Amino acid sequence: MKAIMSRSIGGPETLVLEEVDDPVAAAGQILIRVKASGVNFPDTLIIEDKYQFKPKRPFSPGAEFSGVVEAVGRDVCSFQLGDRVMGFSRWGSMAQKIAVDASRCVMIPDNMPFDEASAFILTFGTSYYALKEKGGLRSGETLLVLGAAGGVGLAAIEIGKAMGARVVAAVSTTEKATLVREHGADRAVIYPTAPFDASSRRDAARLLKEACAPDGAHVVCDVVGGDYSDAALRAIAWDGRFLVVGFAAGIPHIPLNLPLLKSCQIIGVFWGLWLDQSEQHLSRSAAELLKWYKGGKLRPCISARFSLAEAGDAIAQLAARKALGKVVVNVD
Ligand SMILES: NC(=O)c1ccc[n+]([C@@H]2O[C@H](COP(=O)([O-])OP(=O)(O)OC[C@H]3O[C@@H](n4cnc5c(N)ncnc54)[C@H](OP(=O)(O)O)[C@@H]3O)[C@@H](O)[C@H]2O)c1
Repeated sequence: MKAIMSRSIGGPETLVLEEVDDPVAAAGQILIRVKASGVNFPDTLIIEDKYQFKPKRPFSPGAEFSGVVEAVGRDVCSFQLGDRVMGFSRWGSMAQKIAVDASRCVMIPDNMPFDEASAFILTFGTSYYALKEKGGLRSGETLLVLGAAGGVGLAAIEIGKAMGARVVAAVSTTEKATLVREHGADRAVIYPTAPFDASSRRDAARLLKEACAPDGAHVVCDVVGGDYSDAALRAIAWDGRFLVVGFAAGIPHIPLNLPLLKSCQIIGVFWGLWLDQSEQHLSRSAAELLKWYKGGKLRPCISARFSLAEAGDAIAQLAARKALGKVVVNVD
Protein backbone atom coordinates (compact mmCIF):
# COMPACT_ATOMS: atom_id res chain seq x y z
CA MET A 1 0.00 0.00 0.00
CA LYS A 2 0.96 3.67 -0.26
CA ALA A 3 1.45 5.73 2.89
CA ILE A 4 2.79 9.13 3.89
CA MET A 5 5.71 8.40 6.20
CA SER A 6 7.69 10.32 8.80
CA ARG A 7 11.25 8.97 8.71
CA SER A 8 12.99 11.86 10.49
CA ILE A 9 11.97 14.48 13.03
CA GLY A 10 10.82 17.62 11.26
CA GLY A 11 8.01 19.67 9.70
CA PRO A 12 5.54 18.61 6.98
CA GLU A 13 8.26 18.99 4.32
CA THR A 14 10.02 15.93 5.76
CA LEU A 15 7.08 13.59 5.00
CA VAL A 16 7.47 11.19 2.07
CA LEU A 17 5.02 9.06 0.07
CA GLU A 18 6.21 5.44 0.06
CA GLU A 19 5.18 1.91 -0.78
CA VAL A 20 5.01 -0.06 2.51
CA ASP A 21 3.69 -3.44 3.68
CA ASP A 22 -0.04 -3.73 4.33
CA PRO A 23 -0.94 -3.82 8.05
CA VAL A 24 -2.66 -6.92 9.45
CA ALA A 25 -5.67 -6.91 11.78
CA ALA A 26 -4.63 -8.47 15.12
CA ALA A 27 -7.13 -9.91 17.61
CA GLY A 28 -9.72 -7.25 18.45
CA GLN A 29 -8.79 -5.15 15.42
CA ILE A 30 -10.28 -4.44 12.00
CA LEU A 31 -8.40 -3.66 8.80
CA ILE A 32 -9.81 -0.62 7.03
CA ARG A 33 -9.29 0.59 3.46
CA VAL A 34 -8.99 4.31 4.21
CA LYS A 35 -11.15 6.69 2.17
CA ALA A 36 -10.23 9.95 3.89
CA SER A 37 -8.16 11.18 6.81
CA GLY A 38 -9.03 14.36 8.74
CA VAL A 39 -6.08 16.59 9.65
CA ASN A 40 -5.76 17.69 13.28
CA PHE A 41 -3.34 19.96 15.12
CA PRO A 42 -1.69 16.98 16.87
CA ASP A 43 -0.51 15.86 13.38
CA THR A 44 1.65 18.99 13.27
CA LEU A 45 3.17 18.08 16.65
CA ILE A 46 3.62 14.31 16.32
CA ILE A 47 5.91 14.54 13.27
CA GLU A 48 8.16 16.92 15.23
CA ASP A 49 8.24 14.71 18.36
CA LYS A 50 6.38 17.47 20.25
CA TYR A 51 3.25 15.44 21.02
CA GLN A 52 2.44 13.46 24.19
CA PHE A 53 2.90 10.24 22.18
CA LYS A 54 6.09 9.59 20.22
CA PRO A 55 5.64 6.64 17.83
CA LYS A 56 8.65 4.67 16.67
CA ARG A 57 9.81 5.75 13.16
CA PRO A 58 8.97 5.27 10.43
CA PHE A 59 5.29 5.97 11.03
CA SER A 60 2.40 7.56 9.20
CA PRO A 61 0.57 10.51 10.83
CA GLY A 62 -3.24 10.86 10.77
CA ALA A 63 -5.49 10.36 13.79
CA GLU A 64 -9.08 10.34 12.45
CA PHE A 65 -10.33 8.58 9.36
CA SER A 66 -13.17 7.01 7.44
CA GLY A 67 -13.13 3.91 5.27
CA VAL A 68 -14.44 0.43 4.51
CA VAL A 69 -13.76 -2.72 6.54
CA GLU A 70 -11.56 -5.05 4.51
CA ALA A 71 -10.69 -7.72 7.13
CA VAL A 72 -11.79 -8.56 10.66
CA GLY A 73 -9.42 -9.85 13.37
CA ARG A 74 -10.14 -12.62 15.88
CA ASP A 75 -12.82 -11.89 18.53
CA VAL A 76 -14.41 -9.01 16.59
CA CYS A 77 -18.16 -9.38 16.18
CA SER A 78 -19.21 -5.73 15.98
CA PHE A 79 -18.16 -5.20 12.32
CA GLN A 80 -18.34 -7.10 9.03
CA LEU A 81 -16.52 -6.90 5.72
CA GLY A 82 -17.76 -3.94 3.68
CA ASP A 83 -19.03 -1.89 6.64
CA ARG A 84 -18.53 1.88 6.32
CA VAL A 85 -16.73 3.04 9.46
CA MET A 86 -15.07 6.08 10.98
CA GLY A 87 -12.55 5.95 13.76
CA PHE A 88 -9.69 7.25 15.80
CA SER A 89 -6.09 6.13 16.04
CA ARG A 90 -3.31 8.30 17.43
CA TRP A 91 -1.44 7.96 14.12
CA GLY A 92 -1.43 5.85 10.96
CA SER A 93 -4.41 6.96 8.88
CA MET A 94 -2.56 8.91 6.17
CA ALA A 95 -2.18 5.58 4.43
CA GLN A 96 -4.30 3.40 2.14
CA LYS A 97 -4.95 0.90 4.96
CA ILE A 98 -4.97 0.96 8.74
CA ALA A 99 -5.43 -1.80 11.33
CA VAL A 100 -7.12 -0.40 14.42
CA ASP A 101 -8.94 -1.61 17.54
CA ALA A 102 -12.59 -2.22 16.69
CA SER A 103 -13.53 -0.35 19.88
CA ARG A 104 -12.11 2.84 18.31
CA CYS A 105 -14.53 2.71 15.36
CA VAL A 106 -18.21 3.42 14.82
CA MET A 107 -20.50 2.86 11.83
CA ILE A 108 -21.03 5.77 9.45
CA PRO A 109 -24.70 6.68 8.92
CA ASP A 110 -25.94 6.08 5.34
CA ASN A 111 -26.37 9.77 4.56
CA MET A 112 -22.90 10.81 5.75
CA PRO A 113 -20.20 11.10 3.07
CA PHE A 114 -16.72 9.67 3.73
CA ASP A 115 -15.02 13.07 3.84
CA GLU A 116 -17.38 14.39 6.53
CA ALA A 117 -16.99 11.15 8.47
CA SER A 118 -13.20 11.57 8.44
CA ALA A 119 -13.59 15.00 10.06
CA PHE A 120 -16.02 14.01 12.78
CA ILE A 121 -15.11 11.58 15.50
CA LEU A 122 -12.00 13.19 17.01
CA THR A 123 -13.02 16.77 16.32
CA PHE A 124 -16.60 16.66 17.58
CA GLY A 125 -15.72 13.97 20.14
CA THR A 126 -13.19 16.26 21.83
CA SER A 127 -15.60 19.19 22.05
CA TYR A 128 -18.40 16.92 23.28
CA TYR A 129 -16.21 15.51 26.05
CA ALA A 130 -15.02 19.02 26.95
CA LEU A 131 -18.40 20.75 27.07
CA LYS A 132 -20.67 17.96 28.26
CA GLU A 133 -18.58 15.64 30.42
CA LYS A 134 -16.03 18.08 31.84
CA GLY A 135 -17.63 21.54 31.50
CA GLY A 136 -21.20 20.59 32.43
CA LEU A 137 -22.44 23.29 30.04
CA ARG A 138 -26.08 24.16 30.74
CA SER A 139 -28.77 25.65 28.53
CA GLY A 140 -28.81 29.46 28.78
CA GLU A 141 -25.17 29.71 29.87
CA THR A 142 -22.58 31.72 27.95
CA LEU A 143 -19.84 29.67 26.27
CA LEU A 144 -16.65 31.39 25.09
CA VAL A 145 -14.70 29.44 22.43
CA LEU A 146 -11.14 30.47 21.51
CA GLY A 147 -9.70 29.47 18.11
CA ALA A 148 -13.34 29.04 17.19
CA ALA A 149 -12.87 28.68 13.41
CA GLY A 150 -10.53 25.66 13.76
CA GLY A 151 -11.64 22.03 13.78
CA VAL A 152 -12.29 21.56 17.51
CA GLY A 153 -13.41 25.21 17.88
CA LEU A 154 -16.09 25.07 15.19
CA ALA A 155 -17.33 21.78 16.65
CA ALA A 156 -17.55 23.45 20.08
CA ILE A 157 -19.74 26.22 18.64
CA GLU A 158 -22.20 23.74 17.11
CA ILE A 159 -22.29 21.48 20.18
CA GLY A 160 -22.68 24.54 22.42
CA LYS A 161 -25.68 25.65 20.38
CA ALA A 162 -27.12 22.09 20.39
CA MET A 163 -26.86 22.23 24.21
CA GLY A 164 -28.71 25.56 24.34
CA ALA A 165 -25.83 27.90 25.22
CA ARG A 166 -25.17 31.45 24.02
CA VAL A 167 -21.90 31.12 22.11
CA VAL A 168 -19.23 33.82 21.87
CA ALA A 169 -16.61 32.79 19.29
CA ALA A 170 -13.14 34.38 19.38
CA VAL A 171 -10.92 34.29 16.26
CA SER A 172 -8.01 36.12 14.64
CA THR A 173 -9.43 37.34 11.28
CA THR A 174 -12.61 38.74 9.72
CA GLU A 175 -12.80 35.71 7.38
CA LYS A 176 -12.83 33.41 10.42
CA ALA A 177 -15.42 35.68 12.12
CA THR A 178 -17.75 35.24 9.13
CA LEU A 179 -17.30 31.45 9.27
CA VAL A 180 -18.11 31.16 12.99
CA ARG A 181 -21.29 33.21 12.52
CA GLU A 182 -22.33 30.89 9.67
CA HIS A 183 -21.88 27.96 12.06
CA GLY A 184 -24.15 29.43 14.72
CA ALA A 185 -22.05 31.70 16.95
CA ASP A 186 -24.21 34.39 18.53
CA ARG A 187 -21.26 36.76 18.64
CA ALA A 188 -17.83 36.83 16.97
CA VAL A 189 -14.85 38.63 18.51
CA ILE A 190 -11.56 39.27 16.70
CA TYR A 191 -8.69 39.16 19.19
CA PRO A 192 -5.31 40.80 18.65
CA THR A 193 -2.42 38.59 17.52
CA ALA A 194 -0.11 37.19 20.23
CA PRO A 195 2.46 37.68 21.65
CA PHE A 196 0.70 40.39 23.65
CA ASP A 197 2.33 43.44 25.19
CA ALA A 198 0.64 45.07 28.21
CA SER A 199 -1.68 47.11 26.01
CA SER A 200 -2.83 44.30 23.67
CA ARG A 201 -3.25 42.02 26.73
CA ARG A 202 -5.69 44.57 28.21
CA ASP A 203 -7.44 45.01 24.83
CA ALA A 204 -7.92 41.26 24.41
CA ALA A 205 -9.34 40.86 27.93
CA ARG A 206 -11.65 43.87 27.48
CA LEU A 207 -12.98 42.60 24.13
CA LEU A 208 -13.74 39.17 25.57
CA LYS A 209 -15.33 40.61 28.75
CA GLU A 210 -17.58 42.92 26.73
CA ALA A 211 -18.66 40.08 24.44
CA CYS A 212 -19.47 37.78 27.40
CA ALA A 213 -21.34 40.44 29.43
CA PRO A 214 -23.20 40.68 31.70
CA ASP A 215 -22.07 37.65 33.74
CA GLY A 216 -18.93 36.66 31.87
CA ALA A 217 -18.35 33.24 30.28
CA HIS A 218 -19.79 30.39 32.36
CA VAL A 219 -17.64 27.99 30.32
CA VAL A 220 -14.45 28.80 28.37
CA CYS A 221 -13.28 26.28 25.76
CA ASP A 222 -9.59 27.06 25.22
CA VAL A 223 -7.96 25.24 22.29
CA VAL A 224 -5.36 27.99 21.77
CA GLY A 225 -3.41 28.59 24.99
CA GLY A 226 -0.47 31.03 24.85
CA ASP A 227 -1.23 34.62 25.82
CA TYR A 228 -4.89 34.10 24.89
CA SER A 229 -5.64 31.97 27.97
CA ASP A 230 -4.91 34.77 30.45
CA ALA A 231 -7.23 37.15 28.55
CA ALA A 232 -10.02 34.54 28.42
CA LEU A 233 -9.69 33.68 32.12
CA ARG A 234 -10.23 37.35 32.94
CA ALA A 235 -13.57 37.14 31.05
CA ILE A 236 -14.87 34.13 33.00
CA ALA A 237 -18.00 34.30 35.17
CA TRP A 238 -18.13 33.76 38.92
CA ASP A 239 -17.97 29.96 39.49
CA GLY A 240 -17.10 29.43 35.79
CA ARG A 241 -15.35 26.40 34.23
CA PHE A 242 -12.21 26.99 32.17
CA LEU A 243 -11.53 24.01 29.88
CA VAL A 244 -7.88 23.43 28.96
CA VAL A 245 -8.12 21.68 25.58
CA GLY A 246 -5.10 22.67 23.50
CA PHE A 247 -2.02 24.81 23.06
CA ALA A 248 -1.90 25.82 19.38
CA ALA A 249 -0.23 29.09 20.49
CA GLY A 250 1.92 27.52 23.23
CA ILE A 251 1.51 26.40 26.85
CA PRO A 252 0.22 29.30 28.98
CA HIS A 253 1.38 30.31 32.45
CA ILE A 254 -1.59 31.42 34.53
CA PRO A 255 -1.36 33.66 37.62
CA LEU A 256 -3.30 31.73 40.27
CA ASN A 257 -4.92 34.86 41.66
CA LEU A 258 -7.26 34.77 38.62
CA PRO A 259 -9.13 31.54 39.48
CA LEU A 260 -9.30 32.65 43.14
CA LEU A 261 -10.89 36.00 42.20
CA LYS A 262 -13.66 34.27 40.17
CA SER A 263 -13.91 31.17 42.36
CA CYS A 264 -13.67 29.27 39.08
CA GLN A 265 -12.34 25.85 38.08
CA ILE A 266 -9.54 25.16 35.61
CA ILE A 267 -10.23 21.74 34.12
CA GLY A 268 -7.93 19.59 31.98
CA VAL A 269 -9.48 17.82 28.99
CA PHE A 270 -7.78 14.78 27.39
CA TRP A 271 -10.23 13.08 25.05
CA GLY A 272 -7.91 10.27 23.86
CA LEU A 273 -7.20 9.07 27.41
CA TRP A 274 -10.88 9.38 28.34
CA LEU A 275 -11.61 6.85 25.58
CA ASP A 276 -9.08 4.49 27.21
CA GLN A 277 -11.10 4.52 30.48
CA SER A 278 -14.12 2.69 29.00
CA GLU A 279 -15.21 1.30 25.63
CA GLN A 280 -18.62 2.86 26.31
CA HIS A 281 -17.22 6.39 26.11
CA LEU A 282 -16.79 6.40 22.33
CA SER A 283 -19.98 4.51 21.51
CA ARG A 284 -22.22 6.60 23.81
CA SER A 285 -20.80 9.98 22.82
CA ALA A 286 -20.83 9.07 19.10
CA ALA A 287 -24.49 8.03 19.38
CA GLU A 288 -25.51 11.46 20.70
CA LEU A 289 -23.28 13.32 18.24
CA LEU A 290 -24.70 11.35 15.29
CA LYS A 291 -28.24 12.07 16.51
CA TRP A 292 -27.40 15.79 16.38
CA TYR A 293 -25.75 15.29 12.96
CA LYS A 294 -28.85 13.58 11.57
CA GLY A 295 -30.99 16.41 13.01
CA GLY A 296 -28.90 18.97 11.11
CA LYS A 297 -27.33 20.51 14.22
CA LEU A 298 -23.75 19.50 13.39
CA ARG A 299 -22.25 20.30 9.99
CA PRO A 300 -18.57 19.34 9.58
CA CYS A 301 -16.96 22.18 7.63
CA ILE A 302 -14.30 21.02 5.15
CA SER A 303 -12.58 23.98 3.54
CA ALA A 304 -9.66 22.24 1.82
CA ARG A 305 -9.00 18.80 0.36
CA PHE A 306 -5.64 17.27 -0.52
CA SER A 307 -4.51 14.01 -2.11
CA LEU A 308 -2.45 11.48 -0.16
CA ALA A 309 0.72 12.66 -1.96
CA GLU A 310 -0.07 16.21 -0.75
CA ALA A 311 -0.67 15.25 2.91
CA GLY A 312 2.35 17.30 4.00
CA ASP A 313 0.78 20.43 2.46
CA ALA A 314 -2.45 19.66 4.33
CA ILE A 315 -0.61 19.52 7.66
CA ALA A 316 1.36 22.67 6.76
CA GLN A 317 -1.89 24.58 6.20
CA LEU A 318 -3.02 23.82 9.76
CA ALA A 319 0.38 24.64 11.24
CA ALA A 320 0.35 28.02 9.46
CA ARG A 321 -2.98 28.96 11.11
CA LYS A 322 -4.59 29.17 7.67
CA ALA A 323 -7.20 26.41 7.93
CA LEU A 324 -10.91 27.28 8.08
CA GLY A 325 -12.74 24.45 9.83
CA LYS A 326 -11.30 21.12 8.70
CA VAL A 327 -8.68 20.09 6.17
CA VAL A 328 -9.07 16.55 4.78
CA VAL A 329 -6.72 14.20 2.93
CA ASN A 330 -8.64 12.14 0.34
CA VAL A 331 -6.80 8.84 0.36
CA ASP A 332 -8.92 6.81 -2.06
N1 LIG B 1 -7.34 17.82 24.71
C1 LIG B 1 -7.66 16.98 23.75
O1 LIG B 1 -8.11 15.87 24.00
C2 LIG B 1 -7.48 17.44 22.34
C3 LIG B 1 -8.03 16.72 21.26
C4 LIG B 1 -7.87 17.24 19.97
C5 LIG B 1 -7.16 18.42 19.77
N2 LIG B 1 -6.61 19.04 20.85
C6 LIG B 1 -5.88 20.30 20.71
O2 LIG B 1 -6.82 21.32 20.39
C7 LIG B 1 -6.16 22.33 19.66
C8 LIG B 1 -6.96 22.61 18.39
O3 LIG B 1 -6.88 21.49 17.52
P1 LIG B 1 -7.52 21.61 16.06
O4 LIG B 1 -7.23 20.32 15.38
O5 LIG B 1 -8.90 22.12 16.14
O6 LIG B 1 -6.57 22.75 15.42
P2 LIG B 1 -6.89 23.88 14.34
O7 LIG B 1 -8.02 23.46 13.47
O8 LIG B 1 -5.60 24.21 13.71
O9 LIG B 1 -7.40 25.10 15.23
C9 LIG B 1 -6.53 25.74 16.12
C10 LIG B 1 -6.84 27.22 16.17
O10 LIG B 1 -5.89 27.81 17.07
C11 LIG B 1 -5.68 29.17 16.70
N3 LIG B 1 -4.27 29.52 16.83
C12 LIG B 1 -3.77 30.50 17.61
N4 LIG B 1 -2.45 30.58 17.51
C13 LIG B 1 -2.07 29.65 16.64
C14 LIG B 1 -0.81 29.26 16.12
N5 LIG B 1 0.32 29.85 16.52
N6 LIG B 1 -0.76 28.25 15.23
C15 LIG B 1 -1.90 27.62 14.84
N7 LIG B 1 -3.15 27.95 15.31
C16 LIG B 1 -3.22 28.96 16.20
C17 LIG B 1 -6.20 29.32 15.27
O11 LIG B 1 -7.34 30.18 15.37
P3 LIG B 1 -7.19 31.79 15.27
O12 LIG B 1 -6.30 32.07 14.10
O13 LIG B 1 -8.58 32.22 15.06
O14 LIG B 1 -6.59 32.21 16.58
C18 LIG B 1 -6.65 27.93 14.84
O15 LIG B 1 -7.86 27.98 14.11
C19 LIG B 1 -4.74 21.84 19.41
O16 LIG B 1 -3.87 22.43 20.35
C20 LIG B 1 -4.84 20.35 19.61
O17 LIG B 1 -3.62 19.77 19.98
C21 LIG B 1 -6.77 18.58 22.10
